Amino acid sequence: MDNIIIFDTTLRDGEQSPGASLTSDEKIKVAEQLEHLGVDVIEAGFPIASEDDAKAVALICERIKNASVCALARCKNADVEVALRSLEKASKPRLHIFLATSEIHRKYKLQKAKEEIVKIAVENVSFAKKYIDDVEFSPEDATRTEQDFLLEVLKAVVAEGVKTVNIPDTVGYATPPEYGSLIKFLREKLPSDVVISVHCHNDLGLAVANSLMAVINGARQVECTINGIGERAGSAALEEIAMNLLVRKDFYNLTTNIVTKELYRTSRMVSALTGIPVQPNKAIIGENAFRHEAGIHQDGILKNRSTYEIMNPEMIGVPASELVLGKHSGRHALKSRLETLGFQLSEEQIEKVFDKFKKLADKKKEITDIDIIFLAEEEQFQTHKPVYTLDYFHIISGSSTIPSATVRIKKGEEIFEDASRGDGPVDAIYKAIDRLTGLSPILKEYKISAVTSGQDAQGEVTVSIEIEGLKIPGKGVSTDIIEASAKAYLDAINRYLIRKDIIKIKYKGA
Ligand code: KIV
Ligand code: ZN
Repeated sequence: MDNIIIFDTTLRDGEQSPGASLTSDEKIKVAEQLEHLGVDVIEAGFPIASEDDAKAVALICERIKNASVCALARCKNADVEVALRSLEKASKPRLHIFLATSEIHRKYKLQKAKEEIVKIAVENVSFAKKYIDDVEFSPEDATRTEQDFLLEVLKAVVAEGVKTVNIPDTVGYATPPEYGSLIKFLREKLPSDVVISVHCHNDLGLAVANSLMAVINGARQVECTINGIGERAGSAALEEIAMNLLVRKDFYNLTTNIVTKELYRTSRMVSALTGIPVQPNKAIIGENAFRHEAGIHQDGILKNRSTYEIMNPEMIGVPASELVLGKHSGRHALKSRLETLGFQLSEEQIEKVFDKFKKLADKKKEITDIDIIFLAEEEQFQTHKPVYTLDYFHIISGSSTIPSATVRIKKGEEIFEDASRGDGPVDAIYKAIDRLTGLSPILKEYKISAVTSGQDAQGEVTVSIEIEGLKIPGKGVSTDIIEASAKAYLDAINRYLIRKDIIKIKYKGA
């Protein structure tokens, strides 16, 4: 049975999603989780895009031992040099070079004739091959490129030693039959030891379908991202590719190295760090993916789960919502539960989670795995020491009162307190925080959801704020939704304060 190489580009194409930008520390966290997930190749960034991108790729190379770490470069010597420098410490480095080949890109973007495109591609690949063995080449906008020319370019780079040729559907234009036959055509014409990779965008909602069609026709590497994030409408979702190949193994007869039990955790991490929420009806990892609402379905499920379930939540690592710990549970019980749930926290972090656990246990009778995950994630996703923390708040609100909030926040040992009125209690608390921090963020998104069940459920608030053109996510969890709202807002402000010095110059052509 053939194995499909899973090439994850969450940290490169995914990070190009509108609004997403990750700090180096956050990228390292994601990369480590991708390694736990069993990804074969991690595309860690586009080093020429910014110093921060280059630094993040270099740091990831130092941490990742099993997966290949890949860096992207345009067909320019400077790009290749910077990418190679970032890859120096990788145990399995891969360089990914791309150059647009379609008539539209040749004419309007590059203003180059076909012969020049072939020449530039060959020159850059042969330059790179002097320093690195594993080179992947992508003819950008491959699906809108004349087939004979596409083959000519690919044959030329393969002759220079390229081992993987990636066929991007850059603008998400291909239909599954077209894409499948393009891959079949290339598979027949290229040497059999060259791996054909696919990279599909989701502009018409076909990224996963196109990738699977390619696999049926001989592609053996799929480029994808967690939660399907990526340029514009995104990319093929890794979790969908992995679960399609697993659940329908009878049809595809193919394997992957993905540890599917890590999918849920990875999805939550990427969503929390990028601030890009997962739509509730998203296949595999959406919150409704395993919920049965219709009476007939519920009846069927109670009689036999296979009536309406083709996979179960445990397969992707959704924790069981059972009572596991209570008010009297001690540190050791919590520590061992955290380990069972797959968290690798330091003693200091465990101590902090334990403090929060005790506070939660005072408010909430039943502490479930999901509760514990939320407490632990707050610590695990904390890649920086927060500048501000919420110390105290008091709200006055009601149908005949103008809502007002008094808020106290801490900055190190310093304490600041102020009050404000607002359109509602959340608005009042946000205005008070603005007065305290001296910042005026624009609240772009606010979402609240119950993360556990019951009347004493924990609420999760995710926000997105905009300051000086930077869109920053924030997240807060509490049994009190006003407290969760304040925490989320402060979390976003803290992230902004860490990030504001990172100058991101993203290359617009990729
Ligand atoms: O979509 C695309 O064409 C890309 C390339 C850089 C592979 O992301
Ligand atoms: Zn792409």
